[in-house]
Amino acid sequence: MADTLDTDKKVKRVYGRRMGRPMHRARLDVLNDILPQRKVDEALLSEQKNLSVSKIFGWDVSRVHFEIGFGSGEHLHYIMKQFPDDVFIGAEPYINGMTSFLKECSAPPEENFRVHMDDALMVLNSLEDASVDFLYILNPDPWPKSRHRKRRIVNEANLSVYARVLKDNGIMLQTTDVDELADWMLMQSLQCKDFEWLAESFEDCKSAPNGWMATRYENKGKDAGRTQTYLSYRRLPRCI
Ligand SMILES: C[S@@+](CC[C@H](N)C(=O)[O-])C[C@H]1O[C@@H](n2cnc3c(N)ncnc32)[C@H](O)[C@@H]1O
Repeated sequence: MADTLDTDKKVKRVYGRRMGRPMHRARLDVLNDILPQRKVDEALLSEQKNLSVSKIFGWDVSRVHFEIGFGSGEHLHYIMKQFPDDVFIGAEPYINGMTSFLKECSAPPEENFRVHMDDALMVLNSLEDASVDFLYILNPDPWPKSRHRKRRIVNEANLSVYARVLKDNGIMLQTTDVDELADWMLMQSLQCKDFEWLAESFEDCKSAPNGWMATRYENKGKDAGRTQTYLSYRRLPRCI
């Protein structure tokens, strides 16, 4: 391939596909033009838990949204439009997802987002404590086989990372249309003493939050007769 993108870069820790079909020119263009301007600088990713979001952006930021596995980025674009004064970090290792998101950016691309085309944990493990206001984990890969469950992005070890990076009273939102995964995510999250579930009952979790925008992935599940579950939690204030 005569283009400047290095697609041979080794992926750390992410299981599953990274590259899809051969790419069209428009996708290569955004990878070569927009990605270098808007990616989280990998030199900052030491996983030492001391990186501020302000350092990533180069200015003092206030409210921070972080989306893990944004797919083609429809939800990320939606919240960027809703909260133009906030900043956004999205991680998505799948190259076609990344290019779909970047293609929909304005020209010149908005200043208030950064993306990471790899494992979200590389960024989260680099961030200092209490960095993020909103954490979104929408339709994560279900990994249905029991021997693969440890790969689920919502698990005990990762929840302690999410609790660490969320600010006091920060919000974590998880969705899925896989019932068994919904039960798993809820059970795992409730076992983490840092989170309070923001619902009275499981039934409450069958309706979308106000102002919700369903992604194509979510709509496909609904068309196939599956029910979406929306699980919201508050990060309890740290004791001082
Ligand atoms: C089923 S798709 C859902 C996409 C999107 N969130 C939506 O709801 O339309 C799950 C996505 O998570 C991404 N993913 C899986 N593991 C990840 C990780 N460790 N860090 C970031 N993204 C990840 C996958 O590449 C995939 O695009």
